[in-house]
Amino acid sequence: MNNHNDLNINNKYKVLFVCLGNICRSPAAQGILEHFVRENGMEDRIEADSAGTYGGHRGELPDRRMRTAALYRGFALTHRSRPVSSLDFLDFDLIIAMDDRNYEDLMHLAPSVEATHKIKRMASYLKNSRMTYIPDPYYMGSEGFGMVLDLLEDACKNLFDEIKEGLQ
Ligand code: 4NP
Repeated sequence: MNNHNDLNINNKYKVLFVCLGNICRSPAAQGILEHFVRENGMEDRIEADSAGTYGGHRGELPDRRMRTAALYRGFALTHRSRPVSSLDFLDFDLIIAMDDRNYEDLMHLAPSVEATHKIKRMASYLKNSRMTYIPDPYYMGSEGFGMVLDLLEDACKNLFDEIKEGLQ
């Protein structure tokens, strides 16, 4: 984990979640982390965003199935899909890949060796599961979205606790 005291110019710790399409996993992770941030009144300290390694869904809201499943748990997802950019490595403190393919793509996109140190795997924050990646629910049934949200809630809670601890 990076040093959470290394705040950027806005004095906020900035986290970018990255998946393939930026319409299922990463916007859901963003919405869940934002929920924890709001719940703890830390909007002026921590910011979340998300992006995709594939830009084909640019401008779209998250997949309707993910929006429905997330809203059922109290997370309203309003992010619009965007492709990840090498500039994101300057703007964000932490860049979190949902699976190994996202991780490898980000490693190739990173503009410097230092920038690669910002890339982490979402599964590394899991405590309730031994999964090593967050599976892509795009081609799964509705139970797949629930399973992915279970993983994301677990990982986001632990990630939030770690960031909060580092900012104190
Ligand atoms: P995501 O899911 O990476 O979690 O947003 C996907 C969404 C769309 C596609 C693949 C994965 N797609 O191939 O269009």
